[in-house]
This record gives sequence, structure tokens and C-alpha cells, in this order.
Amino acid sequence: MRRKIVAGNWKMNTTPQEGVNLVKGIAELKKDICSCVELIVCPPFTHLSCVINAAKETGIAVGAQNCADHESGAYTGEVAAKMLKSIDTEYVILGHSERRQYYGETAETLNSKMALAFANGLKPIYCVGERLEQREAGQHFDVVKQQIEEVVFNLNEEQFSQLIIAYEPVWAIGTGKTATAEQAQEIHAHIRRVLANKFGVAAQDTPILYGGSCKPSNAAELFAKEDVDGGLIGGAALKAEDFIGIAKAF
Ligand code: 13P
Repeated sequence: MRRKIVAGNWKMNTTPQEGVNLVKGIAELKKDICSCVELIVCPPFTHLSCVINAAKETGIAVGAQNCADHESGAYTGEVAAKMLKSIDTEYVILGHSERRQYYGETAETLNSKMALAFANGLKPIYCVGERLEQREAGQHFDVVKQQIEEVVFNLNEEQFSQLIIAYEPVWAIGTGKTATAEQAQEIHAHIRRVLANKFGVAAQDTPILYGGSCKPSNAAELFAKEDVDGGLIGGAALKAEDFIGIAKAF
């Protein structure tokens, strides 16, 4: 049995107080979902401490949305993996398409971030996914294969066993356009085959989450698919009822 995970990527939304209220709201509603589902929330850096504090003893895990590709030093505006770990951050999202697209993240920077995340005891949620023109050109299988090979293939087995993958087709993010359950299953199964090429049977245990306009109304259909192990949720993660509504799909 693979882990079932619903993770919220809050992106650049909420104030610290709103973030604390949100995590408390999620904690209150958590009794309504299967205890088999793990919940993770990923607030902006400024609220990590207070959200981690508010999430204590709720069973909700907290992650960051990014970390620096250097250990420490003269990198104005960056936040190091070690700093995140020092305040008990558990996860870190790496390679989100918005970071690749707007902040020029490349395989090279992502390899550094991944290595630093693991070296500091953070568990990465590594995002892959094709842009619309790549899907239309039928390149989506190759695009995600490359995004996995150039970063995930550099991990050792121990690191790989801690990894969560999120498949997020760029055309589905924040657009209201969701991949169909069949499209998601097809590419999740492909991702698992690619992972198995390198890591063998261990790939059977890797949680692969779907992200892109996932909401309470479509989560059940997506999560019913064999290789869809949960979701990485943007917009719908900003309301406790919707986030829990998605987790209820399991
Ligand atoms: P939306 O759920 O808002 O489409 O965002 C998905 C996402 O990018 C999560 O990381």
C-alpha cells in the first residue's frame, strides 16, 4: 500500500495570521477524513514558524515552497535548507513550474537544491510537468522523463525512498482545466516506469501526486486511479473546507 497524501501549496497567498487560522481550520476538520491520508501544508517562508507551531500535535506536516541552491553566504533574499530544518520544516517543494518558468530554475540548480534538502533532513516534493505546447506536440512523456532523469536519477536509494513526486501539467495549473483521470493515470504510470528503470521495485512505493485545478468535485475520480496517490493543491488549498473536501476523496 502506497502512502496517500494531500499537500497544499499556498504559493504567495495569506498573511501569517491567515495561515495560522487556515491550518487550525484544517486541523478541526481533519476528523472527517480517513486517518490513512497524510496532510501537508506549504505556506510562504514568513509564516513557516507560526504555522509549524499551530500544526503541532495535529498530525499535519509543514513544508516550504523552495530552498536555496547554496549552503549559506552572500545570496541576498535566499533561504537555506539548513534554516528551514532549524525551525522543524519537514518537506520542501522543489522544481515547481512557476519556479522553473519565472525564476529560471534549471536541472543544475535543482540538483543542488535537492542535494542540500536531503543533506539537511528535508523531504523534497519534486514537481514535473509539461507546458501546453509540449502536450499538443505529443512531447509530454519525453518532457517528464527528462525532468526526472536529470534530477531524480542522481539520488541514492535511501534518498529516493523519501521522495514524493508531483505531476503538474502547466496548462492545468490555476486554469480551471484539469487533466482527465485517464490522462493523469497514463502519465503517472509512465513516471513510475521511468523511476523503475533506475530504482527498480522501490518505484512502487513512491507517492506520485497530481496537481492542477484539483478540487473537491474532481478529486475522487483522479484519486481512484491506480497510480494517482493524492494531490498537490494550489487554489483549493486556501480554504480549509475545500482542502479537506479533497482529502475526503480517499
Ligand atoms: P492549482 O490547484 O491552483 O491549479 O495549482 C496547482 C499547483 O500549482 C500546486 O502546486
